[in-house]
Order: sequence, then structure tokens, then C-alpha cells
Amino acid sequence: MTRPAQRAVELREEIARHSEAYFVRDEPNIADADYDELVRELREIEREHPEFASEESQRVGAPASAVFSSVHHAEAMLSLDNVFDVEELRAWSERVIKGLDATGRWSAKPLEFCVEPKIDGLALSITYRAGRLVQAATRGDGSVGEDVTDNVRTIANVPHELGGALGSFEVRGEVFLAKADFEQLNANQRALGAKVFANARNAAAGSLRQKDPAVSASRPLSFLAYQLVDLGGDLSLATHRAVLAQLADWGFLVAPETHIASGAPEMIAASTWFEEHRHDLSYEIDGTVIKLDDLAFRAALGSTSRAPRWAIARKFPPEERTTRLLAIEVSIGRTGRATPYAVLEPVLVAGSRVAMATLHNEDQVREKDVRPGDLVIVRKAGDVIPEVVGAVGVADEVRGPAWHFPHSCPECGGGLRRRDEESDTYCVNPACPAQQMQKIVHFASRGALDIEGLGEQRVAQLLAQGLIGDVADLFGLHHEVLASLEGFGELSAQSLIAAINAAKEAPLSRILVGLGIRHVGPVAARELARHFATYEALAQARLEDLEAVEGIGPIIAQSVYEYARDDESRERMIRMTRAGVVLREPLVTSLTTTLQGRAVVVTGSIEGFTREEAAEAIVERGGTSPGSVSAKTYCVVVGEAPGTSKLSRAREVGVPLISGEYFVELLETGSWSATLE
Ligand code: IVH
Repeated sequence: MTRPAQRAVELREEIARHSEAYFVRDEPNIADADYDELVRELREIEREHPEFASEESQRVGAPASAVFSSVHHAEAMLSLDNVFDVEELRAWSERVIKGLDATGRWSAKPLEFCVEPKIDGLALSITYRAGRLVQAATRGDGSVGEDVTDNVRTIANVPHELGGALGSFEVRGEVFLAKADFEQLNANQRALGAKVFANARNAAAGSLRQKDPAVSASRPLSFLAYQLVDLGGDLSLATHRAVLAQLADWGFLVAPETHIASGAPEMIAASTWFEEHRHDLSYEIDGTVIKLDDLAFRAALGSTSRAPRWAIARKFPPEERTTRLLAIEVSIGRTGRATPYAVLEPVLVAGSRVAMATLHNEDQVREKDVRPGDLVIVRKAGDVIPEVVGAVGVADEVRGPAWHFPHSCPECGGGLRRRDEESDTYCVNPACPAQQMQKIVHFASRGALDIEGLGEQRVAQLLAQGLIGDVADLFGLHHEVLASLEGFGELSAQSLIAAINAAKEAPLSRILVGLGIRHVGPVAARELARHFATYEALAQARLEDLEAVEGIGPIIAQSVYEYARDDESRERMIRMTRAGVVLREPLVTSLTTTLQGRAVVVTGSIEGFTREEAAEAIVERGGTSPGSVSAKTYCVVVGEAPGTSKLSRAREVGVPLISGEYFVELLETGSWSATLE
């Protein structure tokens, strides 16, 4: 066999294996995006070498299993062709125009499109006769599906009767679990000690394809309708939007976010809107589906055996990929928290290269049962840091031994202890060098004292040389000593000393953030600093004085109270004062004006702020915090794991990008000292 012929055979085998796992067992052993890539490669070979094409690969989905009886679809349930970026989407719309031109039915008006969310669930067709629900079937292989009527009857938002409809119809759409319902379901499963689902789609599929309808009934499934097959011919609707209106009228849920777009640029903008707002929707989407609105145009274009020509799926950059888990390691943070993380074979997820992903804590590793050597799904969605969703295809592989949380700290060898009733494990050695280092790195970070030139490497070096052991030691560093160290020159020593000296004048609120007092983030730090103005006054405050401060609850108050009375911290503050650190909050200009009338878009997560707190802080200062970027946006604040579409839009329209580390400065002053690019 020639190379491409052999590759086509391999691909077909691999695809068949994955489809069986996905469609029949509801246990995918590969991330969707990786599956799509295999299909794409096969189609490519078949296009270039039609002689190797097989009937088989034109099939959609997988054959029905033996558990349910078979249903022959009156009209095939087709799949959709995919595109992966705006260029391909434009090319598709041009093909549509060409196709319509050829039929002579189209008069060069802007084409109307319906742009819908591509819901990540499973396709379902529900048959109604004389207005009554008589049958429901999964897609199966496109022509024969599984009879899931009894289960579908238990889905709360599926109408059992269509008021006033006498003909026969199939209503097609997607069965899915809303994000909140999925979380709830998994919480229940966890409480019952039952299987936790890897994602909402799997959970929906597993819940629908139950032998016992009572089990389906206990799962919070929803159905969203997007297609009507008229079997009796007594409705004469001319457009897709009229179909959607009819479906809504009968009581079906239709996507409220559906955009009607006139012409390709509007259609592309609408599709991009979904990409920007995908995390704001109440259900998971993995792209948008764009459909011609005019049903006569659709008929004129027709379909291939696999997919219609009048619709296309635009898939978003995948947020999940499959890769190999090389090792599980534990990192120690500044509070001593020991976080397990996965070392991965690097993979591109949501547009960036991921080589490490968090595993959160001991319970998560156990629950996900991931082991070094496993193939795992890595997820990076919107603002969250990359995480390992779970292992895939474990049944097919010889696995290594289960991983156990170490008993001693990988950094200092001291004990690791898990506190009662908590899921986190801590290194209990206060002298642990990793903790010391992270404390100092945090103190110098942009969110705190912003001491330029004092990153992880430098801190490690100064610690190793015995020049510092605590943040207070930074203020006693001498330029001559620094200049003599490896990697330092006269100039870098001077500029580090200058940055440290500048930090002496920093507002008290930043020092409070830098000290890393438990529960004290930037917002609490600012409130406390404003209220007490000096560290001395803060340290002398009684517990009730602290609690009386606006925005300070009993937990924060207690933590600050204890910190101020701790011997080590008292000594630290005395040494800092002696070294000339001011420890005072300057009087601020009115809080209400710094962002008056300005639109600040935040993307990614910003240390010390939840998404809501960041928006609130902007609004408090007179600004607005919209979800998308336009030419009028004042600036875009870029946190950890930012959304790629907001970034590219900001670049497109020339809006300044500011690192999340400058967010507090932006709030305080209304401007920033550096942009990202
Ligand atoms: S229309 C002939 N619209 O995506 C057209 N499908 O990858 C059939 N899907 O099989 C599908 N959201 O399960 C359509 N708004 C939407 C959709 C949607 C999700 C699913 C559906 C389909 C698959 C194709």
C-alpha cells in the first residue's frame, strides 16, 4: 500500500475506535478537537486521492447499540461541516453565493444568515403526530437512531403536545445539561459516591441513554430546538427565523442569543460575539452554527450525503486537548500550600502552549484517578488556569501505579499535613525555603511592591547567598554586595537598589498586600490602609475596631489582629521602619473619579480580585466594565489566561493592553505606567 492509502486505513481504524467510545459508550477516549483533527486529516487524503475514499467515512456518528430499539429517521439526520477560523467562514459564504448564483435564484442582495450557538450536547429528533409526542430518537449513524422516547418524556422542557398543530413533524435539537445543572449533578454524584462526569456533554449523553427512564428523570436534562422537519406539509414557513418563532410558540426552548445577520461581515461579527461571550452563556458551546435563513435557498443548495451546504459549524479554538501526563509533582506556595500539578507533554490549548496543569489538591487527583503515563484531557477555559479533566482511554492501556500525595515537602523535607475538614495540604515547616522564597517573590510582585528586577531567580540567588531570609532584609541590601554577585553588573545592582528604595515610599495598602496576611487581598488592604492611615494605628487596633471598618468581616479582622500581635511580624515591621519604610497610606483623590466615563475591559483573572470584584472596582470609580472590546474602550486589562478574541480585537482597534499587575494602579490613578506591547 502507498503511504496515503495506509494512513487512510489507520485513520479510519482510529476514528472508528473513538466513535464507538464516544457515541456508543459515552466514554470518549480523546478530546473532541483531537478527534476533529483525525477526521480532517482523513478527509484531506480522500480529497487528494478519491481512489482511497470509502463509503464508511461518509457516515455520521456510530451505529445504534443493542439496548434501545432502532428508529429509521424519516429524513436523514445530517452532520455539519466545520470551519475553524474567520477566513474559512468567509470562504464558505463565498461558496454559498457561488452556489446560489449558479441556480439563478439569488439577486445579489446581502444574504441573510441565522447565527446560532453550537451547543455541546447530543442531537435528538422528536416526532409529533396530530400534535402529540409519539417518538424520540438519537441520531445514531444518521439514518438509524435509538428509540429513547420514554427517557425524553421525562425532560422537563420538552412539550408533550403542540397546541393547534395537527400535522406530523419532527422537531430536532440538542439535549444538554446547563452548566449549573451539570455542577449540581456532579455534586450529587459525589455525595452518593457515584461516578463523576468529565464534562457536561458526557453527562447529558449518559443521562439520556439510560435503560431506566426513572434515572433519566432524575437528571436535569434540557432540550433546545433548532430544526423542524415537516412530515405532513401543512406548514409553509419561508425562513429559518420563522421556524424558530414557530418552535418557540409551541413552547420549545430556542437559543435566545441567536443573531440574524445580513451579509458576511455581520455574520462573522455575530459568530465572534459568541466566541467572546461563550463563558457568559448558561450552557457549554464549542462554536457557532451559521445557517442560511431563506429555506428556498437552502433547498436550492441541497446537501452532500454527510452535511448540508447551507449551514456550517465554526468551531472555536479547542479548550480541551488530549495529551500524555508525564509526571505529577507538588509545588509549595507562600502559605505553605502544597499543590499537585501535572507535568504534560506540551500541547496547544485555547491558543497557548500548555506544559503544566493544576490538579488542585489530593482529593481531585484521587477522584480523577490520573496516573503518570496516562493520556489525559487538559482543559483551559477562559479565565481559569489549565487543569487536568481526567484520564481517557484507560481501559485500552496498561497503566502505571496510582499516585499518592507525598508525606514530606519536596522542597525542605519537612512534614506535609492536611488540616482536618480541609482539602488542602500544607508544608508545616515555617522555615521551608520554598515558602520563604514565594513570600519574598510575592512581596516584590507587581500586585504588591512592584520591585522590578526581583523575580524568582534573583530571590533564589539572594536566599542562597544568605543575604536575605525575610522581606525586611531587602531594605538592608547594599549595592556593592549585589554588584559582586554572579549575573549582576554595576548597573543592575544600582537599579535594584533604586527599586527597593522606591518601595520604601509605597502606600501602606501595597505593603499590606505584599505581607501576604491571610485573607487580606487588595480590596481589604485598601480599606484598612485608608481607615487607619498608618501601620502603627492598624497594629494597635482592637478586634472590634478592625471589624468596624467598611468591607472588613470577622475573618479578615481576626487574621489582621493575629498578624499584628505575632512576634515575628512585629520584629519584621520594626526592622522595616528602621530601614526607612514609610508604612503610611497617602490621602487619595476621590474614589469616584479615576475612571469616570471610561470603559475598561478585563480579560483573564487578576490576582486578588474575582471577576465580579474587578468589575465592581471599576464601576465604583465611575467606569464601566463591558464584556467586549470596541474602539471606544479605554483599555483592556490582561490577567492570567486571557481570552484570545478580546486580545486580538484590542489590537485590531488599537486599544492599549495593560498587564493585570497594573490593575490596582489603574484603579487608583486612572492611568498606567506601562502597556504590554
Ligand atoms: S443544525 C442539518 N444547529 O452539532 C443540520 N446543529 O456537528 C443539523 N449542534 O449534529 C444540525 N448546536 O448535534 C445544528 N444550533 C445548532 C446546533 C447543532 C449543536 C450539533 C448537532 C449536530 C452537530 C454537528
